Amino acid sequence: MKTRAFGPVQTGVSVIGQGTWNLELSSRAEAVKTLQRGIELGMTHIDTAEMYGAGRAEALAGEAIAGRRDKVFVVSKVLPSNASRKGALAACERSLKQLRTDYLDCYLLHWRGSYELEETFAAFEELKSAGKIKSWGVSNFDEDDLDEALAVAGKGKISCNQVLYHLRERAIEHAVIPWCEKHGVAVVAYSPFGQTASPSPASPGGKVLAEIASAHNATPRQAALAFLTRKKSVLAIPKASKVAHAEENAGTGNLDLSAKEIEAIDKAFPLGRPKSLPML
Ligand SMILES: NC(=O)c1ccc[n+]([C@@H]2O[C@H](COP(=O)([O-])OP(=O)(O)OC[C@H]3O[C@@H](n4cnc5c(N)ncnc54)[C@H](OP(=O)(O)O)[C@@H]3O)[C@@H](O)[C@H]2O)c1
Repeated sequence: MKTRAFGPVQTGVSVIGQGTWNLELSSRAEAVKTLQRGIELGMTHIDTAEMYGAGRAEALAGEAIAGRRDKVFVVSKVLPSNASRKGALAACERSLKQLRTDYLDCYLLHWRGSYELEETFAAFEELKSAGKIKSWGVSNFDEDDLDEALAVAGKGKISCNQVLYHLRERAIEHAVIPWCEKHGVAVVAYSPFGQTASPSPASPGGKVLAEIASAHNATPRQAALAFLTRKKSVLAIPKASKVAHAEENAGTGNLDLSAKEIEAIDKAFPLGRPKSLPML
């Protein structure tokens, strides 16, 4: 599994990680087994949030990482409605409890809400000083939000920006990725499959993806993930609740596409015009 830098300080984070949104809706045993199999195959970057199943996804992730804490990179997120100075401290404690750990590798503001960034970031810095989080970042931040966040936080503080990115939604390529690259902030692609099935192999885009995948003895989903993470600044966190799906996703870990293949996928799934940041 290839690894990537995660912001200015952390390194060695698996380029393909594991999402947990709605994972609590699956059979608990299967979901835990899936996360554990993914970890075994190198997908050690685990993404969760207090919002997911109102803490149940965190609890499930906690069960999966028990006895493996030193091998995993755990990210959770505070809801904007809890992101006051005091609220974020309390939310982090709850997340640590659900995850049955004493620290998070990274803690994110899930999206911008009504609390001032100064307040949320002050709480994050306090959590960092207390050793409860190793780093912090943001999610669903567009270019202007990032400018503001940088002005508030100062250089070298923001680890990542977690944003929507898949073959049919490439808006972040216009401004968000370049901004993050310029400022050493990792880009984490959420919903990298657009929460749906692979493009049909009968569709023009699906055909291109299938052809490229088969040249590597890979699958279209693996080719899609390899395309999305072709830049060193980008990591992806597909969610799987079946062991076979985790195995397939982990198989992307060492797949490198040639410049010609990247160009072909780029043409088959056009970038589109600049627009404000889409989010789920
Ligand atoms: N920051 C944010 O605002 C935000 C928003 C959305 C998501 N996220 C994070 O990003 C993660 C991923 O996004 P997502 O869950 O929205 O969608 P996604 O990863 O794009 O898609 C998940 C769907 O793909 C299926 N799948 C995964 N691997 C597969 C495979 N190899 N073969 C066939 N099907 C496969 C899953 O099925 P099975 O479950 O049946 O395996 C599930 O139905 C989330 O879980 C969450 O951690 C963050």
